[in-house]
Amino acid sequence: MIKGFIFDLDGVITDTAELHFLAWKKLADKMQWAFDREVNEELRGVSRMDSLQIIKNHNKANVAHEKLMELAAMKNDLYVESLETLTPNDYLSGAKELLVHLRKEGFKVALGSASKNSSKVLRQLDAMKYFDVIGDGNSVSKSKPAPDIFLFGAKKLGLKPQECVVYEDAEAGVDAAKAGGFYSVGIGPAERVGHADIRFNTMKEATLFAVKSHFADLF
Ligand code: G6P
Ligand code: MG
Repeated sequence: MIKGFIFDLDGVITDTAELHFLAWKKLADKMQWAFDREVNEELRGVSRMDSLQIIKNHNKANVAHEKLMELAAMKNDLYVESLETLTPNDYLSGAKELLVHLRKEGFKVALGSASKNSSKVLRQLDAMKYFDVIGDGNSVSKSKPAPDIFLFGAKKLGLKPQECVVYEDAEAGVDAAKAGGFYSVGIGPAERVGHADIRFNTMKEATLFAVKSHFADLF
């Protein structure tokens, strides 16, 4: 029986991928590193330090650990500054409607994001009120594809994984949901999230009605 929903943040509730991209791009330019939207795609759902490693490796650069920490902090300052531009109009189409619907129907709802800035993003969107539990980059140490962040959310909601549906737009996020024994909804192209139990191109199509119809015997 499905009693709860756990949502990834970036690419599911709102599109902060563009803001992450712009912040990484500024940093890369400063370092005279190559960085484009194609490389940025590889950072979907990936933690801050792992993202920096990917960009660094892409440039075959040698950087000491201390300097890496400094660069990650610089990127984060740029990103956090850009979050000021985010407003309650910046939900991905369909996301707010789904959250309102879940509240109305009495489902439990958690956030399961790798971002340490999740609370700030939710406050900018005025979305805190839709979540019973916030699981973010500060909640667990092992990031996706490990299932830890979703297991954290389910536990805090007082639910078992098989009582929860996870919404994810990242390949590693769907892997994490599956590894934890959750039902999964993939948002995006089949090449990326085709391994989810059910996939939609956009959040607009991923309504409660659509999910209920797919998992009919679980509701
Ligand atoms: C999400 C995003 C990633 C980002 C990660 C960490 O998973 O999809 O692009 O790197 O969060 O975000 P943070 O705000 O902690 O740097
Ligand atoms: Mg995501």
